[in-house]
Amino acid sequence: IPKWLVWGYWCSPLTYAYIALAVNEMDSPRWLDQSIADGRPLGVAVLENAGVFTGKEWYWIGAGALLGFTVVFNVLFTLSLMYLNAIGKPQAILPEETDGFPENDYEQKKEPHITQRTTVRTTEPTSPNSIITLDKVLEQLRGRSPNTSDRSVGYAPGRGMVLPFEPLSMSFNEINYYVDMPAEMKTQGVTADKLQLLSGISGAFRPGVLTALMGVSGAGKTTLMDVLSGRKTGGYIEGEVYISGYPKNQATFARMSGYCEQNDIHSPQITVRESLLFSAFLRLPKEVTDQEKKVFVDEVMELIELNGLKDAIVGLPGVNGLSTEQRKRLTIAVELVANPSIIFMDEPTSGLDARAAAIVMRTVRNTVNTGRTVVCTIHQPSIDIFEAFDEVMHLLDTLFSYILFITLVLDNLLGFHHGSCYY
Ligand SMILES: Nc1ncnc2c1ncn2[C@@H]1O[C@H](COP(=O)(O)OP(=O)(O)OP(=O)(O)O)[C@@H](O)[C@H]1O
Ligand SMILES: [Mg+2]
Repeated sequence: IPKWLVWGYWCSPLTYAYIALAVNEMDSPRWLDQSIADGRPLGVAVLENAGVFTGKEWYWIGAGALLGFTVVFNVLFTLSLMYLNAIGKPQAILPEETDGFPENDYEQKKEPHITQRTTVRTTEPTSPNSIITLDKVLEQLRGRSPNTSDRSVGYAPGRGMVLPFEPLSMSFNEINYYVDMPAEMKTQGVTADKLQLLSGISGAFRPGVLTALMGVSGAGKTTLMDVLSGRKTGGYIEGEVYISGYPKNQATFARMSGYCEQNDIHSPQITVRESLLFSAFLRLPKEVTDQEKKVFVDEVMELIELNGLKDAIVGLPGVNGLSTEQRKRLTIAVELVANPSIIFMDEPTSGLDARAAAIVMRTVRNTVNTGRTVVCTIHQPSIDIFEAFDEVMHLLDTLFSYILFITLVLDNLLGFHHGSCYY
């Protein structure tokens, strides 16, 4: 080594590891017992030849130095993670193909759905910026089906995907859910042991039909979805749940259902495609080959329109990476790659602006068009979002059901009926 570079030798942890190992080895009797011609023990001669220190203490110096390096490097690493920011500015991630595709696509994809509507309202806008042409109206009139239930009978999935799934319907009857009375309420003088959160709820969800679950805040929408999907571990559940006519068995149901939570939790350091692959490899059965899983992930990305974003880093919400709407679509895709037949979504459009909500609803609609059963809770939907649903299930108390009943009767009389309604 040139003299001016010697500091590099002393700064390297490898130096100390090498010296300690060499001294340790050459210090053993099998090297020291033999001598070479000039009388030095063999071990010492080898070390001197290689330019390594011969003192026994170098074994401990080496070990100590390595320990010191470990501590120093860990401290430096922790400090730099805390105080240094990633190189580059935080900025929104733009999909690869941006030239006006969302709007045009929206119209094309929504059209088949409109033709399925029972009542055709020619004055309704199909999307915020769409233009109703005479052709389209005629097409709608020709394509309409005589009654709503036709939609689910013999439903042909919109796109064939590499993994088949069985379309399943879900029905439930007189669901009651109780929890133990919270301690706070007991201190306020409530004597009952149990608090009833759901009372006598019945309904059904069908394949290929998008059902909205509505109700005021605190009505129990999330609770009902949790109970139906089997995510409630505490509390007491009463009532019957049937999957395509068979009583629900939680062990198999967990494999064929997906649940998109209200808050999108993803790993910030990986890309969109990696998130999906991770979910697919964890959740798809082992009979599915790796190649099929990858193809399926690609198909789901196309369905949920994440193709342009597949190599984007997910990032932290509000800091960098995906926007709220892109995150929501990723949440939907992460569930979809498990190939569920029934998907629950808790408020997929909450916290989004009108355009973002429309994009999310379009992908939800794409999911329904594959023949899956999808249930969404929604909050204060705009008319465009509301129109995307096929059926509405409303959770309310007696007074509100009365008002809703009157409203529905009036609506029907006036010809503004949007679909079937359970309540
Ligand atoms: N474990 C629990 N113990 C006591 N009360 C509960 C429990 N879980 C939920 N609740 C209550 O049940 C009601 C329904 O809650 P839930 O979260 O299902 O409402 P939600 O319809 O989803 O409302 P939001 O629209 O705000 O999401 C709320 O009043 C809530 O306080
Ligand atoms: Mg909720």
